[in-house]
Amino acid sequence: MFRRPVAVVVATVVAVVLSASPAAAQRPAAGIGDPYYPALGDPGYHVHHYDLALRMDPRAGTVAGIATISATARHRLRRFQVDLAGLGVQHVTVNGTRATVSQDHDKVVIAPRSALAAGAAFSFVVTYGGRPSPGIVPNVGLPNGWITNGATSFTLGEPDGAHRWFPANDHPTEKATYTFRLTIPAGLATVANGRLVNHTVSAGAVTDTWREDAPMAPYLAQVVVGNLTVDEHPGPAGILLRNAFSLDTQAAAAPAVADTAAMLTFFANQFGPYPFHEYGVVVPDMRVGGFGFESQTLSLLAPDVAGDGVAMSTILAHELAHQWFGDDVSPAAWRYIWLNEGFATYAEWLWEDHALGVPLSTSVATARRMLGRTPATPVDNPGIDAMFSPTTYQRGALTLDALRHAVGDATFFNILRGYVQRFAGRSATTRDFIAVADGVAGRDLRPLFTAWLGAGPLPTG
Ligand code: TRP
Ligand code: ZN
Repeated sequence: MFRRPVAVVVATVVAVVLSASPAAAQRPAAGIGDPYYPALGDPGYHVHHYDLALRMDPRAGTVAGIATISATARHRLRRFQVDLAGLGVQHVTVNGTRATVSQDHDKVVIAPRSALAAGAAFSFVVTYGGRPSPGIVPNVGLPNGWITNGATSFTLGEPDGAHRWFPANDHPTEKATYTFRLTIPAGLATVANGRLVNHTVSAGAVTDTWREDAPMAPYLAQVVVGNLTVDEHPGPAGILLRNAFSLDTQAAAAPAVADTAAMLTFFANQFGPYPFHEYGVVVPDMRVGGFGFESQTLSLLAPDVAGDGVAMSTILAHELAHQWFGDDVSPAAWRYIWLNEGFATYAEWLWEDHALGVPLSTSVATARRMLGRTPATPVDNPGIDAMFSPTTYQRGALTLDALRHAVGDATFFNILRGYVQRFAGRSATTRDFIAVADGVAGRDLRPLFTAWLGAGPLPTG
């Protein structure tokens, strides 16, 4: 969630999608085939695990990495690619043998000494580095990728920023587990997805090893380095709670973060058990705008929103709800982004109604008003420039409210829980959600979804 800057509406959706095709044709090969990001990813293999050993110098802004990537070939591979932007590759080995490598259009093209057989398990090691630079998210106007100010660094991979800091098969359908081995100058601290499994100190440097054992889309990978204090304590239902604050933000953020356990219990009652083993919030000490981001097991909160208790509580609810909607169940393509943002926005309204004294009906009315001023694009396929627009967030949430009115409270929450259970650890499309809704409700809800998810006027009632 982010605080929208003064409207920057760009109407070049069609042009962007069309002009991508000739450029894609010049590339070494097409990507996974996401219509919004046609070049990203390689469908020829599936990654199971990323082991990222990163030596980071926040002051110099440099990263030196050794990425060991374990994968399975989906078909015979004479060569394959991995996404990487703005960083140089020194060399690559495949199954321990030096491979031929070239870098082209944000792709590392790798030709192993001998072809990989269909179905073969293999691993490749990319030794790379440089000074990562951020991208810009269309329309949001905020940076993504690797964001640093010379003292603190954090990452924000959505939608296409993961490969600005590590070689990634960079598509949300390509979920894998992760190990992060983070080496930093002594005196600084790190936090990343999952849990800390090792901490060693040697010769002025610290190496922290973090592991995320649940499958994770590359865009949700998070590494933060800075002047952080990391606290760990047991939370509800066996969840490990760990938060990381910079010294300056701790006091302001602590009161809203204190609600985490209550929020986890509230959402688990509605959406089903919290999907991961750890949860927490990180507030890095860097001002780049007011936003939150749903890194898996570790919501990222900008210091700009810490200190405003009510706004912060709402944003924390939004990011926590993403752990079910977006992280555990990820969009099968970026056009389905409402399955993330519409659901997290509706969860915000549920939390505000439950805990912050804002009735759900007020949130519904506010959203309807906001949409009156928003250019119409389909919720289900908003176009790359409207991915993070009120269409996706507010009209997406209103769609869920309409579904709730149509089927009743009990069935509605059964649908949400059924959907999460069915697609846990995987990816889903709008059609998948509608199929669960139809099945649980025992009726054809397509007319409702067609009216709400299209670009036509907002249905009434
Ligand atoms: N997914 C984020 C949220 O709504 C929003 C977001 C996407 C974002 N990309 C961003 C925020 C880039 C800041 C910068 O929770
Ligand atoms: Zn969101």
